Amino acid sequence: MSALPHPFAPETLSNPAPFYAAVHAHAPVFPVEGMPVTYVAGYDALVDVLGRVEDFSNDFGTILSGKRNADPDVKAILDTGWPAVDTLLTADPPVHTRFRKLVNLAFSMKRVDAIEADIRAIAVRLLEAMLDKAAGGRAVDFVAEFAVPLPVAVIASQIGMDATTDVATVKRWSDAFVDRLGQMIPKARELECAREVVEFQHHAKALIDARRARPTDDLLSDLVHASVDGEKPLDDAEIMSILQQLMVAGNETTTSTLAGGLLLLIENPAELLKVRADRSLIPNMVEEMLRLESPTSGLWRMVKRDTEVAGVPVRAGTMLMARFAAANRDPTRFPDPDRFDVTRPNARSHLAFGRGIHMCVGNMLSRKELVVAFQEILDRVGEMALAPGAVLEWKPNMLLRGLSALPVCLERARVPA
Ligand code: HEM
Repeated sequence: MSALPHPFAPETLSNPAPFYAAVHAHAPVFPVEGMPVTYVAGYDALVDVLGRVEDFSNDFGTILSGKRNADPDVKAILDTGWPAVDTLLTADPPVHTRFRKLVNLAFSMKRVDAIEADIRAIAVRLLEAMLDKAAGGRAVDFVAEFAVPLPVAVIASQIGMDATTDVATVKRWSDAFVDRLGQMIPKARELECAREVVEFQHHAKALIDARRARPTDDLLSDLVHASVDGEKPLDDAEIMSILQQLMVAGNETTTSTLAGGLLLLIENPAELLKVRADRSLIPNMVEEMLRLESPTSGLWRMVKRDTEVAGVPVRAGTMLMARFAAANRDPTRFPDPDRFDVTRPNARSHLAFGRGIHMCVGNMLSRKELVVAFQEILDRVGEMALAPGAVLEWKPNMLLRGLSALPVCLERARVPA
């Protein structure tokens, strides 16, 4: 693999498609130079890894959070809140099993269907405001105007906050959690993030208490009252940990799919025409966007015992990089993998949401948000183009991929639906 660039080099992260193509041609599973990490890019190998929970652990919380709580000043602030608990993403069975059963109850299809009208109302409000700003050919940033606020407002309204006024607060908290995971922040920001975390926890406590006293028709209420035979209901710290994950896992990723998805439509006018002509293609188009964008590019697994992946030996104590984004461009599974094809027959078999026991608990919610958003976009937006001189930049991140901004010119559709 020495002829290939390093998988985590900034150039690879900002333009990964050629790297993924080279990896599939040479070695879909390989040890990363200079790191105790094996990179898993092949589709079948990744499905195998995601199913082997007895060999590969999700207990990577300490890696994600780096020197979490180690600084005494940071710890002093966090001690005024509730303890961090590993609940879903960073827990293994049997701990994971209990949380997942309880959280599945809150994320039912029934709940997601009930939220649809709410999602549509938020999407229409944001789109109309953005189209007003875009009048007369003015450039607007689709990320700031639509892709960020939509999922944040949906989650805000589902945890009992006001979808209009509290979006900035939820985004501020969500950014604090994301920054803490990034491990690269200066001490002043670490202290600020710790204060944000505690502020969020106190706010969440009030919302949780209110729902304990009087259930309401939202996701937080479902979480507070979730009970499965024989399982202890969730306590305050556990609910807070889950809410944190919903904010972090749900916002960035859906934002990135919305922005990357719109860019795919702009760059592929023939595919845009196909969905304009046949709206029933929208759900499949969304799956194809998820496949190509794969906003959670990859996540870690800890190797629990000496074993192998697709014939490549892996040692206990090392890590795997489960590369969802690479598997989604495996040519043995997806012919002509870099092509955006809204009619691709197996688009939905992508691994953008993972697979197995940790498969994204928010996948139904996210899919609903994406389908509703693109239905409204196709109804309300006519001509769409990149703003003249627009420079596209993706946020530098080993695990998450997304556009920092998407400057576009959008025309209101001539015949409103
Ligand atoms: C396009 C949007 C999204 C993408 C690409 C995505 C991706 C993923 C992936 C790949 C995993 C599997 C992690 C693993 O195997 O270790 C995951 C898990 C998870 N996702 Fe998502 N996600 C999205 C949206 C959401 C939303 C909207 C929510 C909630 C509001 C959410 C909450 C979670 C949680 C809590 C987990 C952990 C589940 C577990 O460990 O049992 N995600 N997500």
